[in-house]
Amino acid sequence: MTKITAAITAVGKYVPEYILTNKMLEKIVETNDEWITSRTGIKERRILKGEGKGTSYMAIKAAQQLIDKKKLDPKEIDLVIVATATSDMKAASTAVYVASEIGATNAFGFDLDAACSSFLYGMSVASSYIESSRYRKILLIGADKCSSMINYEDRATCIIFGDGAGAVLFEPNTKGLGLQDEYLRSDGMGRNFLGAKAGGSKYPITKEAIDKGQQFVYQDGKTVFKNAVFNMADVTVKILEQNNLTNNDVTWLAAHQANKRIIEATAKRINLDASKVMMNIQKYGNTTSATLPLLLADYEQQLKKGDTIIFAAFGGGFTWGAIYFKWAYN
Ligand code: COA
Repeated sequence: MTKITAAITAVGKYVPEYILTNKMLEKIVETNDEWITSRTGIKERRILKGEGKGTSYMAIKAAQQLIDKKKLDPKEIDLVIVATATSDMKAASTAVYVASEIGATNAFGFDLDAACSSFLYGMSVASSYIESSRYRKILLIGADKCSSMINYEDRATCIIFGDGAGAVLFEPNTKGLGLQDEYLRSDGMGRNFLGAKAGGSKYPITKEAIDKGQQFVYQDGKTVFKNAVFNMADVTVKILEQNNLTNNDVTWLAAHQANKRIIEATAKRINLDASKVMMNIQKYGNTTSATLPLLLADYEQQLKKGDTIIFAAFGGGFTWGAIYFKWAYN
């Protein structure tokens, strides 16, 4: 029997129009463009403005762009997964609403939250469904309205995060293209260093929590940085070793856009030339679940059938991992 692999066959993206530049942040918190650029590589980020607009707004736009480009009948979609750490609402999956709004009336949907690794883990889940032949068309959307959980008086976090969405379509492939292998990890001690304390079931939102700003993301930047550098580089090495690959076999590194220095450290660890490292952090900052599909959308024109892409991510929790992938179209 022919082996079925899970390939990406289309990509779409959406970023909000409003641009928050480093210069603008200089007027809000005590920081400066030079500091932000040299420490993170970020020059600007997009912010979703407008009453009642949540993550689904961007997810729908990214999905619609993909549907239009691919000339896809949304009724053919079997499953919609929204990878996100900022779902629209509690107890009502964002993916379900997105599926309805894009006309995927034959699909079911669910959200997947593993902070900044959500999309990477989503690739694993979508691929497993495709490989099992249970479903044939899976829309995986990475979308986050990070601005909804950021305190714009906290310079440790507000300079980093931005809003955005990217979508990919997974379909069966019989030529061996698509997801080849994965190495996924997590460690629960990470919740002490990155996360929003209040708003979940452990500490529901109260007036007191709001007064203390506990609904916002807290980050111990140094600890997160150290763990991200070590772990993202480590899994990148592991996925190469596991598949007997060298840096010469890698066409692209698509790493979670958390910090330019973290991405460069990962590339350095496998001796990968900068020309092979996808980078768009300067434009969008860290969009959490959207960074990987936004990279694919921005680099789509340069990707060729058979290209080897190593995906790597690190996020809150902590969660991290790497995926070895073969691109399926020109
Ligand atoms: N603007 C200007 N100065 C700032 C600043 C800002 N936004 N934030 C911190 N500083 C100051 C600090 O107060 C400190 O001053 P001091 O030396 O006088 O005490 C100095 O800059 C260095 O701060 P530090 O926290 O050591 O900076 P850093 O080099 O670790 O960079 C981060 C800070 C947040 C950019 C970095 O730790 C980081 O990127 N961490 C990982 C974040 C991340 O990726 N999160 C998401 C994971 S998915």
